[in-house]
Amino acid sequence: MNLLDKLFSREIERRTGAHAISIYIEENREKRKRSRSIGASAIEASRETKITTRKSDTSFIRRIDLRFPWLKLAVVAVLGIIVILDLLNLTISSTGERRALAKIAPMSKHIKATERVIEGKKLVALTFDDGPSPLTTPKLLDVLKQKHVPATFFVLGNRALDNPDVVKRALDEGHEIASHTMRHQNLIRISAEAAKNDINEAKSAIKSIIGKTPAYTRPPYGNFDSNIIKSAGTPIILWSVDTEDWRSKNVDSIISTALDEVHDGAIILMHDIYPTSVEAVPKLIDAIREKGYEFASFSEISKIRGTKIKEGIIYYNFRP
Ligand code: NI
Repeated sequence: MNLLDKLFSREIERRTGAHAISIYIEENREKRKRSRSIGASAIEASRETKITTRKSDTSFIRRIDLRFPWLKLAVVAVLGIIVILDLLNLTISSTGERRALAKIAPMSKHIKATERVIEGKKLVALTFDDGPSPLTTPKLLDVLKQKHVPATFFVLGNRALDNPDVVKRALDEGHEIASHTMRHQNLIRISAEAAKNDINEAKSAIKSIIGKTPAYTRPPYGNFDSNIIKSAGTPIILWSVDTEDWRSKNVDSIISTALDEVHDGAIILMHDIYPTSVEAVPKLIDAIREKGYEFASFSEISKIRGTKIKEGIIYYNFRP
């Protein structure tokens, strides 16, 4: 009983007697009980709220994690399967590529006459001057490999030294490597000695890459004199079909020029340093084959025609 109660009870006692006092006290006791219990439930409620608040504070993933404990494992498993499939796919594709290369390599390693029927056919020789180029020559080699066409590359000594791998690749893939001199000088406009030096420099540069002296020479612009023939010390191979690819730089023009002039035993002149020339080659090969010709190397033509290609002689074509 607090002070207020005492005061009240005395007052009431004075007025209504003992009974009323006891009722009042009882009522107050009840009230206090109720308020205490309300307070307790309020605290209880607030605790619950706190718990609920804490629960709603937890992240979405945490809640998912709590509700579906197996889900994390399932996600990891699915991701794992995806990674494994991806790896398998990569493995399959690289194996496929290797298989494809393996199929091509043995045939193109040395282009054999048996893959192109050259007996009894009109023959043409494809020649490329002024390279090698690290950009265009490899693309050309891809095309020649795909089409099973041998060619002769009249390389410049200085460009060969800059791109020895391209020269080696051409040799490995069955093409002939010949000399177009060291630095593309007009040999008849320089001294006989300077011309001889240039020719010899090219010979040793090319030999340092392919392991043998180039078997043929093509002087720049097709210009030569007796000194140059002597200095070359090899057959001089010029051309009979000039595609003028360096001038037109046009695929259709290159092809139509070649088709107009092609003949049995033709030596076709092109340049592997121009993208348009390389672009024209696959179409040119198909068009020439369609006219009943087949491509052959110098040595194949000389063998099949029974003619020896001799040192000191100028060849414009290999007509039968
Ligand atoms: Ni040239």
